[in-house]
Amino acid sequence: MTSGHRDQKYIHGYSPIEQDRLRRQAELTEFVIYQDVNFSQTDHILEVGCGVGAQTQILLRRFPRLKASCIDINDEQLASARETLGALDYARDRFEIHKMNAEKMTFPENSFGGAFICWVMEHMPNPARVLSEVRRVLRPGSSVFITEVMNFSYFLDPYCPAIWKFWMAYNDYQYDRGGDPFVGVKLGNLLRDAGYTDVRTHVKLLYADKREPELREKLLHDREELMMSAVDELLQDGHVDATLVEAMKREFHDVRKNQNAITFDSFMQATARVP
Ligand SMILES: C[S@@+](CC[C@H](N)C(=O)[O-])C[C@H]1O[C@@H](n2cnc3c(N)ncnc32)[C@H](O)[C@@H]1O
Repeated sequence: MTSGHRDQKYIHGYSPIEQDRLRRQAELTEFVIYQDVNFSQTDHILEVGCGVGAQTQILLRRFPRLKASCIDINDEQLASARETLGALDYARDRFEIHKMNAEKMTFPENSFGGAFICWVMEHMPNPARVLSEVRRVLRPGSSVFITEVMNFSYFLDPYCPAIWKFWMAYNDYQYDRGGDPFVGVKLGNLLRDAGYTDVRTHVKLLYADKREPELREKLLHDREELMMSAVDELLQDGHVDATLVEAMKREFHDVRKNQNAITFDSFMQATARVP
């Protein structure tokens, strides 16, 4: 593992391909992300790092009385979120989109009755600051649901050394630029230190073997897309070379054809309450 944070850079980029990936990813992982998410007693939530609105779409569908104020730092994501949500009848008049940095929100105190954050903290150089800001704008008694990566837990069988090598280069690259691909495991400490109560953490699995070949194929495809989202950056920066990228693609091709393949990943979902 390398250390020392250099410049901050968003590892996935904001291309239309990446934006489609976020939509597919949200759809694919809904069954596990939303198992325990409950905003049925909440009228208005804050969504931090809404991206293209892929999670907002699910939240508004699942909780028909909910309104969401969504923030993101990037104009392309915000434009895409506006378009996606604007086209949904059930979302009409139920969302607001704001360009805002999660570390420095302009909402007044006590603005919302809950918060949802998904795949965002890994990109934050100062997650403690974000959690403190979120706490500031939530009313007492509000619940937060935070879903974050634990990239050390990805495993494929048969063992795929090129994929593994590429994945570790990806993680080093993100870490060196001020992100944290392992932040999921730290959510309990971060929430406790930020003064939240009832902090609970749940390890969630994205795991499939020959018993669920369709899910396995989708998970493998999703992971290949995720890794490919960073290929240009990693090549430019010399973290990987073209030979490794080719070997990684070959291994994905082979493992996707293998009837005995197993794909395993886990992530953390933390819930907590504002005192
Ligand atoms: C991987 S995407 C996740 C999007 C969405 N939550 C989802 O699950 O589809 C991370 C998002 O966080 C946004 N982001 C990164 N840093 C941010 C910051 N400081 N403030 C607000 N949003 C930020 C990025 O622009 C990006 O849209």
